[in-house]
Amino acid sequence: MSRLLVDGGTPLEGEIRISGAKNSALPILAACLLTDEPMHLVNVPHLLDVTTTVELLRRMGVEVTVHDTMDLEIGAGSIRSFFAPYELVKTMRASILVLGPLVARHGEAHVSLPGGCAIGVRPVDLHLEGLRRMGAEVWVENGYIRARAGRLRGAHLFLDVVSVTATENLLMAAVLAEGESVIDNAACEPEVVDLARCLTRMGARIRGAGTDHIVVEGVPRLHGARHRILPDRIETGTYLAAALLTRGHVRLKHTRLDLLEAVVEKLREAGAEIAYGPDWIELRSVSRPRAVDVTTAPYPGFPTDMQAQFTVLNAVAEGVGTVRETIFENRFMHVHELQRMGADIRLSGRTAIVRGVPALQSAPVTATDLRASASLVLAGLGAEGTTVVDCIHHIDRGYECIEEKLTQLGARIRRVGLNYDPGVFGRAEDTDSTPSAMARG
Ligand code: UD1
Repeated sequence: MSRLLVDGGTPLEGEIRISGAKNSALPILAACLLTDEPMHLVNVPHLLDVTTTVELLRRMGVEVTVHDTMDLEIGAGSIRSFFAPYELVKTMRASILVLGPLVARHGEAHVSLPGGCAIGVRPVDLHLEGLRRMGAEVWVENGYIRARAGRLRGAHLFLDVVSVTATENLLMAAVLAEGESVIDNAACEPEVVDLARCLTRMGARIRGAGTDHIVVEGVPRLHGARHRILPDRIETGTYLAAALLTRGHVRLKHTRLDLLEAVVEKLREAGAEIAYGPDWIELRSVSRPRAVDVTTAPYPGFPTDMQAQFTVLNAVAEGVGTVRETIFENRFMHVHELQRMGADIRLSGRTAIVRGVPALQSAPVTATDLRASASLVLAGLGAEGTTVVDCIHHIDRGYECIEEKLTQLGARIRRVGLNYDPGVFGRAEDTDSTPSAMARG
């Protein structure tokens, strides 16, 4: 366990490389279960959630070779088990993504129910109902999802709620089903499109990915493929927000503006100057940001995974901005920590009304979930003094080498052991000198 110490007040300046998308890598790793031929994945981010997924696959008997560059070679030719244990699933809800591939290719799955999490109830009913519609027998027993099936049958699936992982799970099930499947009210997120691209390279027949109407013509088997993971739009948006917050000037490489237009629109409204090319985005900001109103929505709307970062932007902006969360019922835990840093935020149901203050104050704060922890680091960058962010294992789930990247942009940030006394800065003996938890993997 470790903490991050963030010294605020330095404008971020310079250039960094954006990593592959976590939310693309996780379903694509699960998709490797759909073929017995070797898969080669490139641009896989080095993240705790990726390590957890690799561990899950290995326990099933999948062979995974991790190259220095984080390219992965994956062979699911000799799976021994169809079991996803609670101890792994509870640390990462996306483990549910193995369900569709296991049932589709092996006709059997025994996967722990993910349960609720810090940001809300997060049910998986759509995943289970969709598989039932495709002919699987699915039941819940002792906290585990059990499923059994012969070859799945194509079906018309209508998702009551737009769900990213339900769309992905059912898409992965449909590619090996007999006949045509239609997924209506499907999630349109770029990560769904990336998964569909990878599946198509493996021989799947998919139309309409990226729209709410996906049509899949099932095939009897898939083959191996090489696939490059899409850039991480949330990591991109987080560094852009950090640059605006600190009145900096950054250039992000290996990323694409078209993946996060709703976010870029709001950054511009808040005062950012943004330039871009086919694989880079540059943000320049010279004045205090202006408050903006945001409402989260499924893609192409404003992403819920950027909500906490914009709450921080508004907290130091000129004026009053509202942040409305429509996807998850309890995604405002960062607000209480921000209030401890002097932010003026009032919660009213699912809306945060944020009145900007000239500067936040440093404080010891605790991260509660992945994006909330990113927002606390941003708050620290915009605060006077040294902010200590606890429970940063959350941030390691989704941000590759965050302190190296921020350091490269000129921020003063470092990781220390839990015994570090926040009252006595500079005590070298407690400093965790390794570059980051990510590097330790
Ligand atoms: C994915 C992303 C996560 C992002 C979220 C919303 C991954 C690995 N995670 O999570 O980063 O915050 O999309 O963009 O890609 N729901 C149901 N029944 C279900 C499934 C979902 O009611 O069976 C509801 C949820 O309670 C929630 C909404 O649908 O209100 C969206 O959840 P969902 O899209 O499933 O989120 P995830 O796919 O878990």
